[in-house]
Amino acid sequence: MSMPANEYAFFDLQPERGADLDELLAGFRLADKKVSPKFFYDEAGSKLFDEITQLDEYYLTRTEMKLFDEYHREIVDALQVGARESCLVEYGSGSSAKVRKLLDTLRPSAYMPVDISTEHLQAAARALHQSYPWLHVYPTCADFTQPFELPAVADGFVRTGFFPGSSVGNFEPEEAVTFLANVSRTLGSGARFLIGVDLKKDVDVLEAAYNDPDGVTARFNLNLLSHLNARYGADFEVSAFEHRASYNEELGCIQMFLISLRAQTVTLSGEHFSFGAGERIHTENSYKYAPEEFSRLARQSGFDLTRVWIDERGWFGVFLLEVRGG
Ligand code: AVJ
Repeated sequence: MSMPANEYAFFDLQPERGADLDELLAGFRLADKKVSPKFFYDEAGSKLFDEITQLDEYYLTRTEMKLFDEYHREIVDALQVGARESCLVEYGSGSSAKVRKLLDTLRPSAYMPVDISTEHLQAAARALHQSYPWLHVYPTCADFTQPFELPAVADGFVRTGFFPGSSVGNFEPEEAVTFLANVSRTLGSGARFLIGVDLKKDVDVLEAAYNDPDGVTARFNLNLLSHLNARYGADFEVSAFEHRASYNEELGCIQMFLISLRAQTVTLSGEHFSFGAGERIHTENSYKYAPEEFSRLARQSGFDLTRVWIDERGWFGVFLLEVRGG
């Protein structure tokens, strides 16, 4: 008996380059200059991030993977949606490395990886389409920091959301509520959402994870400037900036900056921006939550908390949420 061929379709919901440029310019006009961390992820940045996940100091990926392994059966049982055809929607799928094991046992009909880095997204999605002959693969290039609708191809399915890696930490807590509320609306009432969240812990452990001795994180941070040069025609001299990362106790987040090593002027889209020596560009906040803090956030966003899996050191949490109502 022949199986119907698994479909592959790419959806491009990418924002106009102009909208991104306006956002960039607005950030550089501020007294405290800032750039959204989404600008890390060009092809080189996505690769550098993959390198980060292999670092000894970067416990996040490893700890989350261990949780997925250890509680695999429980997680899959809790995600099972019954006989209906389901579509697994992954937010910020990157290399789609974590999802493979989940696909093997959960066996959804379709997988929709959503990512902003289009080349990386399509390469990973094509590889998945090859290795899973029974799975429809619908890569969708979108900026999920902005509200967006899933392509209509997902309409017929029960949707299950997957957001590993603590990428939710890049949102300010109030933005996280907006994002999660949007996800709950997109997935629909009764849908499940599996999300990985980095937890509050010893400051030394946190700071080491963002200051690796090999300088991979520094290259990742600095690559943002190369990305702005290549894509938006800026003229940053990358070697005239350096990486800094430290934990902001008050806010509860790791903050990353690029520090200007000297006074200099940079041109972006015909506009000149001057930097004093020591002046910084804020490139990332990475929030860490206590389990009860994140649970509260999820409840505020229209989810019920079904289960949490936390490693023995209490460093990372995998939360299973269910869209309230229905
Ligand atoms: C992908 C946002 C979860 O905050 O740990 C890694 C990105 N930045 N090292 C994180 C990142 C510096 C990462 N997230």
